[in-house]
Amino acid sequence: MKRLFFLLSVISALCGRNITISHGPYLCDMATDGLTVVWTTDLPGPSWVEIENIATGEKTSYYETIAGNIVATETLHRVHVNKLLSGTKYRYRIYTGKIGFSLAKRSLIYRDTVASDDLSFTTFSESKKDISFLVLNDIHSRAGFMQKLCSQVNFGALDFVCFNGDMWEWLLDEKMLFDGCMDAAVEMFASETPIVFNRGNHETRGPFATSVPDYFPTRNGTVYYRFNIGDISFLVLDCGEDKEDSHPEYFNLAAFDSYREEEARWLAQTVASPEFQNAAARIVFLHVAPAAGTSHVNMHLQETIMPILNRTGIDIMFSGHTHSYACKEADAKAAFPTVINGNNTYLLCTIKDGKIQVEIKGLAPSENHTHEFQIITN
Ligand SMILES: [Fe+2]
Repeated sequence: MKRLFFLLSVISALCGRNITISHGPYLCDMATDGLTVVWTTDLPGPSWVEIENIATGEKTSYYETIAGNIVATETLHRVHVNKLLSGTKYRYRIYTGKIGFSLAKRSLIYRDTVASDDLSFTTFSESKKDISFLVLNDIHSRAGFMQKLCSQVNFGALDFVCFNGDMWEWLLDEKMLFDGCMDAAVEMFASETPIVFNRGNHETRGPFATSVPDYFPTRNGTVYYRFNIGDISFLVLDCGEDKEDSHPEYFNLAAFDSYREEEARWLAQTVASPEFQNAAARIVFLHVAPAAGTSHVNMHLQETIMPILNRTGIDIMFSGHTHSYACKEADAKAAFPTVINGNNTYLLCTIKDGKIQVEIKGLAPSENHTHEFQIITN
């Protein structure tokens, strides 16, 4: 298939068709020292990102590579940028080259190059105390509603936006991924404010579901991961599907029990790490709140994930899935508060002076609520 794409690109080059950026760019996998920039083009070609430290003017280019080869045969581009400085603002620009074959030189040549406008981002800080982020979930491919819901949000003031599951209803192909959410996200914020992507049960559905992680790369290669901003540690945990693996809806194509058990083994190691143990506060994103239901996924998460979380000093969990807002205090099942966001609201979270303020905001005033939790006690 790759050879076919490559051949088509050569034919197109000879025909004189220009290459264009079809979607993106958007920012993923942000850390204190790097990130991944993602975009697509209508033709395959080698891709790179030019980064400029705004304060010093120093420029560096990063290429999309696999084991030393610069990737030239894909239309999905994921360029990992590293060795950046913490809490530093960078200007960036993406490029994809269109290559063709020179009969005269018997070699590949660049026919033209497409580039984005100048954009910018700021790496996560190792020392920042005041942190703000926004959480969206259960949009279920309603891109227009998401734009309306977030029309007053100042995305430029946020450290990140968390997609906390079920942003799509299901996924048949790449077009549904961009039409259902990502094109709107890029238009609103995602070229300059990073996405923290977390799967819900609906992102596991449809023929394109197994391709979804390709569009939200992480440095450890898994859908679940951990990151820090300042001395706050964030856990992004994947709930998997919500019914038994044997449920007829999954056509014998689900193996989420063993997946959650694998995730729990990773979690046990991660919470034992010095980075997590020494964090001033610990925040969890998990689409399904384990203690907020009795379906199979709730019970299995209570069996696998919750025993680890309950003994590890979690300060707060953010969830969705139920399509209705709830704020649950710590109890016998969950040793920490859980805020469940509905399907028509977002959470605006602000960490300041050791507290996290959680504002639940919708289009109607009756949907608005505010809670505050002390998360740093020393
Ligand atoms: Fe869900």
